[in-house]
Amino acid sequence: MSNNHLDMFGLSGKKALVTGGAVGIGKACATALAMAGADVAIVDIDDKTGPKTAEAMRQFGVNSMFVKCDVTSKDQVQAMVAAVVQEFGRLDIGINNAGIAILGGDEDLDQAAWDKVIAVNLTGAYLCSQAQAQQMIKQNDGGGKIINTASMSARIANCNASYDASKAGIVHMTKTLAAEWGRFNINVNCFSPSYLLTPMHASTPLEARECIRNLTPMGYMERPEDLYGTIIFLASAASNYVTGHDLLVDGGHTLNAWLVPLGREVPPRVSPEEEIVQLKKDLDAMEVPYDENGINEDLHPEIANAFKGMLGLD
Ligand SMILES: NC(=O)c1ccc[n+]([C@@H]2O[C@H](COP(=O)([O-])OP(=O)(O)OC[C@H]3O[C@@H](n4cnc5c(N)ncnc54)[C@H](O)[C@@H]3O)[C@@H](O)[C@H]2O)c1
Repeated sequence: MSNNHLDMFGLSGKKALVTGGAVGIGKACATALAMAGADVAIVDIDDKTGPKTAEAMRQFGVNSMFVKCDVTSKDQVQAMVAAVVQEFGRLDIGINNAGIAILGGDEDLDQAAWDKVIAVNLTGAYLCSQAQAQQMIKQNDGGGKIINTASMSARIANCNASYDASKAGIVHMTKTLAAEWGRFNINVNCFSPSYLLTPMHASTPLEARECIRNLTPMGYMERPEDLYGTIIFLASAASNYVTGHDLLVDGGHTLNAWLVPLGREVPPRVSPEEEIVQLKKDLDAMEVPYDENGINEDLHPEIANAFKGMLGLD
């Protein structure tokens, strides 16, 4: 290592892949890796938007590729890692981020909805972690970094059972794999965002955003950019002695236990207009229309309805 200790955050020459990388949190992960110098593969089921995201990564002067893959299929996951290694020559960083929510009350939710959420969020991350570890072990030259996307929903009840349980499963799976694979110099960690403005939240009503801001000590809604530092830390040598950890990135949202919002002494660092810059770029790439607030009620009507119900709107 050079005398410049910030070099420990550099990812130059590293080879990475991100699942669910086309938009949202996955695209933010890929952007952070590319900014730090890693070649990065965008892996996604969406083969319309994914190639555009891979193209966008090249602006950082790194190599990028798109691989279509449904993370619930072991065959597709194995073929996806093989395709990345064929192009990049090796794999150093795997970010397992593809995830979905199917909202609805648990008293009458279909089993198919439970099965689908667990299959994508938990089984998908497991199959990807396994395929990535197999490659890193085969390389036998320094291990690697596996990073899973969990959620604050792993610690609190804010969605429904399938989603919240899938994310709690991610946190504990991360610990177990970290304990097992430390002997190969593989770090396994996860990170937990709160409510984050991605296409998943493009139908969330303005009133809900305001409510979330008021209940979040940092005073604004989380943006994809707010994860860049976390991702670079967990992917780089800076986190070499951190493993099995769940890094909560929630602006203090889950700390909130006041009976009323505390109000603010100074304006938040990020304005409501700045919250939606990346969201609008993602919706443009998906060719999805939206209003001036970045809202498209038709993209996730069930999420819109759930928030409206909670807030007593129409
Ligand atoms: N947005 C939030 O508020 C929030 C908060 C905490 C955690 N998360 C988690 O972050 C991850 C990303 O969420 P997001 O908000 O960016 O969601 P998003 O819906 O905006 O994007 C998800 C991406 O995953 C892809 N995908 C879905 N199913 C797939 C599959 N079977 N195989 C491969 N790709 C698939 C989609 O095509 C899409 O590109 C998820 O695991 C989610 O649970 C989101």
